Formats: sequence, C-alpha cells, structure tokens
Amino acid sequence: MSSDPAAIRRFAIAIDGPAASGKSTVAKEIAKRLGLVMVNSGEMYRAVTWKALQENIDSSDSAAVVAMLGRIDIQCGEIGMSSTCTIDGENPSDELRSEAVNSNVSAISAIPEVRALLTTLQRNYLDRTSIIMEGRDIGSVVFPDTPFKIYVDADQAVRNARRSDAGEADSVHERDTADSTRKNAPLVIADGAVVLDNSHHTVESAVEAAIAILKQQGLPDIYLS
Ligand code: DC
Repeated sequence: MSSDPAAIRRFAIAIDGPAASGKSTVAKEIAKRLGLVMVNSGEMYRAVTWKALQENIDSSDSAAVVAMLGRIDIQCGEIGMSSTCTIDGENPSDELRSEAVNSNVSAISAIPEVRALLTTLQRNYLDRTSIIMEGRDIGSVVFPDTPFKIYVDADQAVRNARRSDAGEADSVHERDTADSTRKNAPLVIADGAVVLDNSHHTVESAVEAAIAILKQQGLPDIYLS
C-alpha cells in the first residue's frame, strides 16, 4: 500500500457475500450515497476468465492460465465512480456475464497466481481514492484491516430467483460451493464483518441497514450527511 500520508484519510468498505445475494446493488447504492468509487472485484475475475476463454484455454489448466497472465496487460481504473478493467486494451464488459464466463469463473479464481495479481490491482485503488469494494475475500484478504466490513447473505431460493429474473444462466449453488471450499481466499465471513440478511429487504431498506452497520463500525458522520 502507498506511503502517501493522504492515504491515511482514505478508507475501504468491504462488502462480501455469495453469488446473487444483492451485494452489488447494495454496494452501488452506498457508493452513490457516500460519494465513493465502487469497485466490483468479481468483474476482474470475470475479465481474466473471458480472456482465457478467448484464448481457448481450459479453466482447469492452471499452468496455461498462469502462462497467459504473463502475456496479458490488465489495466484497472475507474470511469466516473465505477471500476473498469481492460485486458490488452479491450473492455469485455458486455461479455462478462455470459453463461461460459459464469461456469468457468470459479475455477479460474481458485488459481493462486490469478488471485495474487488481482489482489494487488484491488489494493492499488486505495492509493488513489476511497472505495467500496464488493467480492468474496475483500474483508478477509484484500483489506483485512478495514473496520468497515459487511457480509451480505440471502436464502438460496431468493438468490436463484434473482438470477433467473435477470435472465442469467448461472449455477449459483455450484459457484458458491466452489468459492467457499477453495484453499486460497475462500468466501468466509471475515473477522469483524457484520452479516446483513438480504433475503427480504427492499433495495432501500437493505441500504439503510448497511449504512446503520457502517455507522456502528465508526464511519465518520461527514460521509453520512
Ligand atoms: O461477484 P461475482 O458473482 O461477479 O463474482 C464472480 C466470481 O469471481 C465468483 O464466483 C468468484 C470470483 N470472485 C472471487 O473469487 N473473489 C472476489 N473477491 C470476487 C469474485
């Protein structure tokens, strides 16, 4: 992390949780309310997965994926208040939620070298700005020292319904199992995280509940006006 003294005033809010728990929606709304850059770390894992698919690399062939990492140029930054990444100059945003990416992203994200590279890019955001970042290991691995940590959960049936309502083919349960049982940086409730059960909230009430948790965790009032 940066030795820049201004970095002391910057902070990261970590929002973790399983697939389709509603964490992106909640994180986006909090980002708007607090004027923070919203970083979607899942999109980074999806972008690497998209690139591997483009190169016809099997997601179970970790040696080939690691070799690909050495060849590609990943640049992550923000446009406005949202994160964005390019790989070799291309922004795959439209293709990140394809069925092929959904079914290969857990295997790719279990590869330690992929995680090491993306964790560094994720931490680099804090060198530039305060952020709210959502993912699986943000409170446990990427920013373990932040006091601001929420784990957004929801019932399995609610999460399945959210994905199919969005017209997305996604085996949420299989992805969760893979993401929670991998050796490296599995999905866990991070030390200090407060669980927000988002099964029956509206977006608005989930955001209110999340903001109440952040206040309890010491978020300065100036962000809450
Ligand atoms: O949040 P999402 O569903 O778009 O994430 C896609 C996949 O990326 C998820 O199944 C596991 C992986 N991921 C991860 O391993 N660590 C993160 N911090 C974010 C996502």
